[in-house]
Amino acid sequence: MTNTTVVQAANLTENLESSLKKPLLGVNIDHVATLRQARGVSYPSPLAAALLCEQAGADGITIHLREDRRHIQDADVYEIAEQLTTRMNLEMAATTEMLEIARKVKPFWVCLVPEKRAELTTEGGLDVAGQMPWLTDYIAKLQAVGIKVSLFIDPEDKQIAAAVTCGADAIELHTGAYAEAGLVCNIDKMNAELTRIKQAVRTAQDADSNMLINAGHGLTRDNVYAIAQINGIYELNIGHALIADAVFVGLEQAVIMMKNAMHQSA
Ligand code: PXP
Repeated sequence: MTNTTVVQAANLTENLESSLKKPLLGVNIDHVATLRQARGVSYPSPLAAALLCEQAGADGITIHLREDRRHIQDADVYEIAEQLTTRMNLEMAATTEMLEIARKVKPFWVCLVPEKRAELTTEGGLDVAGQMPWLTDYIAKLQAVGIKVSLFIDPEDKQIAAAVTCGADAIELHTGAYAEAGLVCNIDKMNAELTRIKQAVRTAQDADSNMLINAGHGLTRDNVYAIAQINGIYELNIGHALIADAVFVGLEQAVIMMKNAMHQSA
């Protein structure tokens, strides 16, 4: 074999491997805490939920410590961090308060998200391009204690380029517009959003081949497959729809069903 053939064979294997790789599932358990906070009692336990999700095959657990503490509380973060056997992805706003907490907890991932007090859920992606100096410094402070940092962004070239420049380890592409189009059965818009997400994955791969690409928001068993099939997506973060399924089938089964929907197995 010539050197060129060896290189080509290696590239082929690498491409084949990445195209065969299935995205991981990160389960967002915020809404277990939402249920608890609705009554101000001690149940249901987000920690118990996290451990059950792991047992059922979740590859990681996501929690969002919001500034208004509407669902996950500080004590949850510490308790869950101590007992997880997979990886914690701590979603948070890029504030000084959250930086201090994250540096104490040291989750595997921090995902920086924008936060508005009145919103029902995270509405848009983070404007990375608009706050480069602050975020570059912020990301470095998290990475300095060994935390990997992901940025939740809209699938836009400008934001992808900014995320690379800031030194992020990963981006999470906002799939909310794709999901919302599906809810109102606007198939053209859904396809357009899917194309936008695919294009964003390619742009991110070209810009920085070491940066991981995640996706999430509004994903359900009905709309997840097209996203899970995109070559190059590392992990999907799914919360609301999976916890809603759990009301009817239980949490473990809901995780299994979501994984099956991602990979279209029975
Ligand atoms: N990714 C991010 C950054 C989020 O803020 C959320 C919502 O908390 C999700 C994923 C999960 O979205 P959903 O609850 O709609 O599945």
